[in-house]
Amino acid sequence: MINMKEKKIVFERNYSFSNENRINSAFIIIKAFNDNKKIVLTTFFLLVCFLYIYQGKNNNNFTKYKEKIYFDQYEVNKYDEIKEKLNLSQCSLMWANQKEFLNGIIRKFKPRKFLEIGVYRGGSSIIILNAINDIKGSSLYSIDLNTEEKVGECVNKFFPELSKNYKLYKGKIATEFIEKIGNNIDMALIDTAHYEPGEILDFLMILPFLKENAIVIFHDIGNQITRSSNRREWAPYIIFNGIRGEKYYPSGNFILKHDIGAVRLDNNQKKYYHDYFRLLSGQWQYFPKEIHIKQMRNFIKKYYDDDCLIMFEEATNFNRRFVRNNPAPLIFNFTSD
Ligand SMILES: C[S@@+](CC[C@H](N)C(=O)[O-])C[C@H]1O[C@@H](n2cnc3c(N)ncnc32)[C@H](O)[C@@H]1O
Repeated sequence: MINMKEKKIVFERNYSFSNENRINSAFIIIKAFNDNKKIVLTTFFLLVCFLYIYQGKNNNNFTKYKEKIYFDQYEVNKYDEIKEKLNLSQCSLMWANQKEFLNGIIRKFKPRKFLEIGVYRGGSSIIILNAINDIKGSSLYSIDLNTEEKVGECVNKFFPELSKNYKLYKGKIATEFIEKIGNNIDMALIDTAHYEPGEILDFLMILPFLKENAIVIFHDIGNQITRSSNRREWAPYIIFNGIRGEKYYPSGNFILKHDIGAVRLDNNQKKYYHDYFRLLSGQWQYFPKEIHIKQMRNFIKKYYDDDCLIMFEEATNFNRRFVRNNPAPLIFNFTSD
């Protein structure tokens, strides 16, 4: 029996004055001024002083943003069912609050079709499978570029009872499996290379298959500040902040606790495709294998417009040279041939 704990989600919203509000207020003031000049002038003066002080008090970077939503407490009871065993198995690469966040966001939105890119031993797959296992018709599709046996091994080794709606694809990039997996993906977790272009490309290679208002979760969106400066693990940070949608973070300090985040995509993502392709214009830390570049090119040609393809080609042509002349400190098995 599941012990249902009280669920609480904290919403913090900051609304700003719209232009319509401003015009209406101006009319009211002008009319009142005509009726009684002295009282109106004094009230107006006091109001300006109050707003000035109030603004100063709240003038930090967070409260200026139009909306922020933090999870404060999650429905953790579902995760509690596997927590101890998962910790003992040492399969997960996530911190405690990240595991709770991943479980919590799944329990809030109850996805049916979940896509995971970046599996490693399967720690995050286990959290996802556990969180969706009482959602009717739900399944997890996981993709990892690595073919090694250890990829995904923890699911069957430690939690075989969760594996009935689980499909693992190995050895290729997402473009090669996504048509088979199909569209209408409700939720995705992207946790792959971290170095540019990494997650930027992984997101672009699944975006046309995501449902309108799908949720995309990114891990390690804080590595750009928490890792040493010669490890430029910036890809999750760049793409997560670039995506248009409502953002969700764990509560707490924004540098130390916001190392995982979720974005609920705004309607009509096609409007932002060009903005997203522009995010490829950074200095890449590795260059993907040429076969993967070719597969991505074909995918872009099929699912995006000519401008996206041109941006992709310019970014790859520039970075092929850039990476050759500025080799990254770390080499990965999925980089240049
Ligand atoms: C950080 S680990 C994933 C950890 C896992 N999500 C967890 O929390 O337990 C990154 C994984 O991404 C895989 N990977 C890297 N680039 C990839 C890509 N473009 N497509 C699919 N998998 C990729 C690596 O082989 C590695 O297993």
